[in-house]
Amino acid sequence: MNTLVKEEKLLNYINGEWVAATKGKYVPVTNPANGEKLVDVPLSSHADVDKAVEVAKKAQKEWALVPAPQRAEMLYQVGYLMKERKEHLSRLLTMENGKVLEEARGEVQEGIDMAFYMAGEGRRLFGHTTPAELNDKFAMSVRAPVGVVGIITPWNFPIAIATWKSFPAIIAGNAVIWKPATETPMMAYELAKIFEEAGLPKGVLNVVFGSGSEVGDAMVEHSSIRVISFTGSNDVGRSVAGKCGQQLKKVSLEMGGKNAMIVMDDADLDLAVQGIVWSAFGTSGQRCTAGSRVIVHENIKQELEERILHEMDQITIGDGLDETIKMGPIINQSGLNKIQSYVEIGQDEGAKLLAGGYVLDEGDYANGNYFAPTLFTDVKPDMRIAQEEIFGPVLSLIPVSSFEEAIEVNNSVAYGLSSSIFTNDVNQVFKAQRDLDTGIVYVNAGTIGAEIHLPFGGTKGTGNGHRDSGQAALDVFTEWKAVYVDYSGKLQRAQIDVD
Ligand code: SIN
Repeated sequence: MNTLVKEEKLLNYINGEWVAATKGKYVPVTNPANGEKLVDVPLSSHADVDKAVEVAKKAQKEWALVPAPQRAEMLYQVGYLMKERKEHLSRLLTMENGKVLEEARGEVQEGIDMAFYMAGEGRRLFGHTTPAELNDKFAMSVRAPVGVVGIITPWNFPIAIATWKSFPAIIAGNAVIWKPATETPMMAYELAKIFEEAGLPKGVLNVVFGSGSEVGDAMVEHSSIRVISFTGSNDVGRSVAGKCGQQLKKVSLEMGGKNAMIVMDDADLDLAVQGIVWSAFGTSGQRCTAGSRVIVHENIKQELEERILHEMDQITIGDGLDETIKMGPIINQSGLNKIQSYVEIGQDEGAKLLAGGYVLDEGDYANGNYFAPTLFTDVKPDMRIAQEEIFGPVLSLIPVSSFEEAIEVNNSVAYGLSSSIFTNDVNQVFKAQRDLDTGIVYVNAGTIGAEIHLPFGGTKGTGNGHRDSGQAALDVFTEWKAVYVDYSGKLQRAQIDVD
């Protein structure tokens, strides 16, 4: 057993207690870098969700009455504890998810930033005061907590995305039922322990481990959970949205991207190549914001191809705990299979494979899930490899002949998460930020690198109009309440008694 993991079996965290799931079924969690078993995670059932919701309902009523600046004190404490344990959390994250240590540290830092940012909201949570249309009348709008909320988080950013969702929910006075991904439960376990130590009242945060089809479904179906915030695949997200819609339940979805980097012929190519390689192969391409398309001006296509290939050759692949490694493994076998199948689809469609395209399974790679960094060129915008999310280290170069065509190709996909443009032409910069149909736009940088105080999410098939992170996250976890105080001592009718 690895010395960083003390437990053999994880327990659910319900009402401030660590409790076994009712059915007693477990699945192993393995390190994708070497196949080593890390821990067993429970497969909970509807009954566990019901239990968590019952205690959360009660806890939420009291939590909502705690003044928000006091709620914030607890969140500051969470931030300090995360900071203190940053290295421990980062190493565990690399072990369960596979991302390289430098990126794991970055992800934990994102959670720390979110703790302090949302704690600050304890003294803001701004509403509006506004003049009333009648004399001796006061009008304002305030944010009210929704009640019990459900968050369903993915394995690719198991701690950062959990903080994007749980911190705003908690600061706003809600209680949370959290279903983490079964591939990466240790981050949830560690974060729940931190909440416990920080003094969060019992029942305000509850972690129920298990599958989407059982625990996720139970949360979506539960009439007392009034919000579902989900990050994951498009198919699952659509089904969650349908079920929530039937119940008039608020649902916030982030379901991935097919993100592109435009490189114009006046761009700084050294910078563009660095941004492209970082966005395409960082986190082994397993980010919702990963850059998987390069839309390149035909005048510089060949030079860009050569430079990207050269940079790809420098990528060291292996166990992310080794600080010399730049790209870690793929999360599991089914991820590898999906990537491999897209390589075959690309070749069948007539795209030219310039590098990679295969599983690495010999020598040091034998027990892990590794895929070689892969580059296709002469890709047509309507090919499946240019349209569908692959979630792996596969990059497609699409040549275009003008700025207008580049924008059109960028916008031709069903997703709208992140996009970027490399150019030194200020007019093109401003036109691009206006015309790129994505929730996030970068100029002279790749498609990854979100900061927590800005909204995260996208247009079209990426989501349903809500955002994680930033101020926008508060809209998911609060209801607007309009308050009118009439101090005239008489009946005053709006729109009628106005002269
Ligand atoms: C993602 O792209 O999947 C998440 C990005 C982040 O947390 O920075």
